Amino acid sequence: MLDPLLPLAPVLDPILDPLTIRATRAVQRVLRGPPFRAEHARSRERALAEVLERYRPEAEPLGPGVRARDRAAILHFESIVERAILDLRGHAERQAAVTRFERAAHAIDRVVYKNTPEWLDDPSFDVRLRVRSLDRLDRMNEGIGAYDAFFAAIEPAIERARAAGVERPTVVDLASGHAMFAVALALRFGGREGRVRVIATDLAPEYLEIGRAHARKLALRDDAISFVKQDALDLSNLGAVDVVTCTQTIHHFPPGMVSRLFAEASTVARHGAVLVDGERNPFAVVLITGIAAALGRGSVPFLHDAFVSMRRMYTEQELALLAELAPRKEGEPRRTIERGWLSPGHIFVRSVS
Ligand SMILES: C[S@@+](CC[C@H](N)C(=O)[O-])C[C@H]1O[C@@H](n2cnc3c(N)ncnc32)[C@H](O)[C@@H]1O
Repeated sequence: MLDPLLPLAPVLDPILDPLTIRATRAVQRVLRGPPFRAEHARSRERALAEVLERYRPEAEPLGPGVRARDRAAILHFESIVERAILDLRGHAERQAAVTRFERAAHAIDRVVYKNTPEWLDDPSFDVRLRVRSLDRLDRMNEGIGAYDAFFAAIEPAIERARAAGVERPTVVDLASGHAMFAVALALRFGGREGRVRVIATDLAPEYLEIGRAHARKLALRDDAISFVKQDALDLSNLGAVDVVTCTQTIHHFPPGMVSRLFAEASTVARHGAVLVDGERNPFAVVLITGIAAALGRGSVPFLHDAFVSMRRMYTEQELALLAELAPRKEGEPRRTIERGWLSPGHIFVRSVS
């Protein structure tokens, strides 16, 4: 049995969840983010600059073919992006690490990084355990304040739309999964009051159904949030929208795919496309695994996926590389990209149109 205490969840959750969430927040008040992150980021920035210079000339000419969905161009582009990120993560960061601290941080990261699939990635994974893991993930997000970080990354794009005179910006959320975040997004930015319209999308309609039921329970109307099946890698059917968001998803995608997703999203988003996810960091792996053990209460899938996902997250510089290399159509100007790190441990890239 992979989750022996699951039958007791209706009794244990209401008692233990608030306590665990309170304890998590108390830890966070002391630890606002992973120690030494900024110090390590300095050598990573130097490595990023070098890698961009090396790979941009190779990747750029393929842009128009990739955006025209030419299969050979996509394969070639993805292989270049894969090489670029391997170079950044390995050789370039090693070369850029000059102090003893930077060298040690790089060596630790080489041990931390591992890209293995999560059990939730397996479509045949048991539905009950899947729903339980998603529920635990929601509680974890509540505990660590992840949604606040996502809102902070997305707000400037929504504000830009409003400043441009759009009274009710349309926000398309890509790969929404069970759409708990998309619903929170609609509530946070005034969906109920007619100040934003959110379209939650995913390839899997059965996930969106969970979100639809949740929105109904909250009496959110269809003009505040709707649920639509959509491939995040082909947004050509969308026409122009105001803002595109994608949260907690990119670590599931290979680098070339993230780069293409950012290209698609920033082309259709008039006021900005925002990708946001956790950042790989040794302290975060330990902390998140600990919180997952406490909130999962014996759920092996949740513990497994929390540990595995933290090891495969991108770093801010890796995500920046993917955004900078994102393919452009013929004549499309180079994008202006904003990026950064947000407490407790998230990173974002945001296009500026
Ligand atoms: C980690 S979950 C989403 C998490 C969600 N965004 C959140 O913040 O709670 C990743 C989702 O990506 C979806 N997905 C995978 N490939 C996709 C694609 N090409 N287009 C759209 N959705 C995709 C999966 O169905 C899954 O629901």
